[in-house]
Amino acid sequence: MNLSSVSCRPTPRRTAVAAVALALTGLAAATAPAASAAPTAAPTAAATALAPLAAPDIPLANVKAHLTQLQSIATANGGNRAHGRPGYKASIDYLKAKLDAAGFTTSVTTFTSSGATGYNLIADWPGGDPNQILMSGAHLDSVSSGPGINDNGSGSAAVLETALAVSRAQLKPTKHLRFGWWGAEELGLVGSKAYVNSLPATERSKFSGYLNFDMIGSPNPGYFVYDDDPAIEKTFKDYYAGLGVPTEIETEGDGRSDHANFKNVGIPVGGLFTGASRTKSSAQAQKWGGTAGTAFDRCYHSSCDTTANINDTALDRNSDAIAHAVWTLGSGPAVPPGDVHENTTDVAVPDNGAAVTSSVTVSGRTGNAPAALKVGVDIKHTWRGDLVVDLVAPDGTAYRLKSSSSSDSADNVIATYTVDASSEAANGTWKLRVQDIAAQDTGYIDGWKLTF
Ligand code: TRP
Ligand code: ZN
Ligand code: CA
Repeated sequence: MNLSSVSCRPTPRRTAVAAVALALTGLAAATAPAASAAPTAAPTAAATALAPLAAPDIPLANVKAHLTQLQSIATANGGNRAHGRPGYKASIDYLKAKLDAAGFTTSVTTFTSSGATGYNLIADWPGGDPNQILMSGAHLDSVSSGPGINDNGSGSAAVLETALAVSRAQLKPTKHLRFGWWGAEELGLVGSKAYVNSLPATERSKFSGYLNFDMIGSPNPGYFVYDDDPAIEKTFKDYYAGLGVPTEIETEGDGRSDHANFKNVGIPVGGLFTGASRTKSSAQAQKWGGTAGTAFDRCYHSSCDTTANINDTALDRNSDAIAHAVWTLGSGPAVPPGDVHENTTDVAVPDNGAAVTSSVTVSGRTGNAPAALKVGVDIKHTWRGDLVVDLVAPDGTAYRLKSSSSSDSADNVIATYTVDASSEAANGTWKLRVQDIAAQDTGYIDGWKLTF
């Protein structure tokens, strides 16, 4: 997708039609240009902040190729990749080589747990604001009873492939991007705890977020989003809303993965999860497919957690969702709430006539419009009961702001309406549509605005 830069604030200008409307209503302002004035050229786009580039599609085949390698490593090392076993260190070496070749600055740090050396792998993408760190991570260890391909080869491989996509794009994000793979999660979140403990308080305060991915390709998947930092949660939910896939809040054990250590020191966290040993309900099977009455992952922590224990669709969607989050949260500046888009060009509303519209074009936002989209309306009219007013979304969906009323003889519609536009894409051309459905009184759209 190629986002062009469009000014959010068109320069006010009056048209010939508007000047006539002003004259009719006796409200012609001295500042209005003569009706014969040449049309003003469209305002050139101001040097607005560039919208973040869209994230690439993460190739499922690449993610699965990493899982195949992790499976081979387990098979060659007694069937697991557990803390303290050779399959774990071999997993670290596999990832580190890929990241080094892609231009990351990597480091392997050690800790001790249950008398064995554990390893974390940290990969920094050079550049970005060192005072705003966005970190994504996954635990790389399995339990000793199996190869741990869903738990947590899935999160490890998807975070790895997202990092490699950052390199392929030679991304220049606003924030500093960091990726981490944790050891000994299965022994009690040990590796990530050692990492967080190793950070001085001044370093911790530089984290703008930590995104955790633990089990994201469960064979009977649910689509769960951690209910934690609202901005991170919204980023994932918006991604899924764009796919038309419903999500639920993750409730199968808050604090049961590495994000808990970051959250405990005040770092904003979020993440994705497709379910472990809990049973999928019939309502969940209705909306997501799969099998009701069986576990999301019936091979959780067992020897059958192999490459056969992966739902490709879930792994594909979640890999793309990770890239979306890294691109949007990392490549600001985010479009802040309170972002105003307005059109102050007058549009005459013909008496007892056809509907007229005034447009604003929104670009550079991601995801859907808010549930509380504010629509500020300024219509000058001598009998507002004649007017029917709608907000029309980019896809043509109309939201009734005001109906007609033969008894409402007051002047003007000057009001701010709140519309639940959360099912509408934010970007595109929005219209205010006004129709005068009764004779005698007339007026014009003086201006209107959308506040996101
Ligand atoms: N590795 C986690 C564990 O064994 C898996 C898990 C269970 C999980 N519930 C979770 C991960 C909730 C994230 C969120 O406990
Ligand atoms: Zn896990
Ligand atoms: Ca009228």
